[in-house]
Amino acid sequence: MKNFQLSAVRTTGTAPPPTHSTPDSPRADGIRLAHVARRFGSGDAALTALRDIELEVRAGEFLAILGPSGCGKSTLLQIVAGLLAPSAGEVLFRGRPVTEPPEGMVYLFQQYTKSLLPWRSVAGNVALAFEADRRLTRQQVQARASEYLGLVGLAGFEKHYPWQLSGGMQQRVAIARALAAEPRVLLLDEPFSAVDALTRVELQALVLELRRQRGLTVVLVTHDVDEAVFLADRIAILSKRPTVVEEIVETRIPHPRDAIETRELPRFLELRHTLMERLLGREPRP
Ligand SMILES: Nc1ncnc2c1ncn2[C@@H]1O[C@H](COP(=O)(O)OP(=O)(O)O)[C@@H](O)[C@H]1O
Ligand SMILES: [Mg+2]
Repeated sequence: MKNFQLSAVRTTGTAPPPTHSTPDSPRADGIRLAHVARRFGSGDAALTALRDIELEVRAGEFLAILGPSGCGKSTLLQIVAGLLAPSAGEVLFRGRPVTEPPEGMVYLFQQYTKSLLPWRSVAGNVALAFEADRRLTRQQVQARASEYLGLVGLAGFEKHYPWQLSGGMQQRVAIARALAAEPRVLLLDEPFSAVDALTRVELQALVLELRRQRGLTVVLVTHDVDEAVFLADRIAILSKRPTVVEEIVETRIPHPRDAIETRELPRFLELRHTLMERLLGREPRP
């Protein structure tokens, strides 16, 4: 596995604070979706994207939400992030209703190229996460941006502009900025769908490693069965529209995961097979 210069940063080695370890405490990072529905438009043109979503995200877990294109994955994640209101039902984070983007949660957009500001340097984009903090001097802002860029393997690229970087590197910048907000929960909307296959493998390893270091809760939406099985602890399978959660499966694949070896495990192949059948609407093999 590639070394992302993880040892060079302040966060390495120390365990994350145990804010997520007691699911019943008010500070626990669990998320609950209760009867969440979302319609778009009205009258004849109305479209029910989400019908009735019941889902629990456990503090500290990596949950993948798997479903076909157009079933409402982005809609669902935006509702969790407090960026979009549900038509019915509610989302609870740390036991409180989500009505705006909650502190402690960051959302990584599907189209990351659109989320980086082209007129800002790479460091300037990362600094967006914390430069409003008046207690930090200019030097401290710079140092902190560099630190997070080092974390994602982009040390030395501070002064570059997003358009000077490859797609995979731009996505690393977006990940660095997300982490710079010091979240407890990371919401990822098909974060690797626009990068090439090898970059995807590297970024997946990066996200798993960052998640392990920081004890993050991660919710990833994807239509990619391989990605869901490789990354997640549990997978929630969505139906076609109007969408509900059809089933939740525990992956039961050991950590740490390896880009090559893990994908050859019998459990990995079995799960991938079953989930592909489900997504393609085929009869399960006897
Ligand atoms: N702002 C919107 N206005 C109208 N329809 C929307 C809007 N956002 C999403 N939709 C529709 O809701 C459905 C689910 O969209 P989306 O959540 O983007 O699906 P997914 O991310 O699973 O591909 C799609 O049919 C899409 O066209
Ligand atoms: Mg989407």
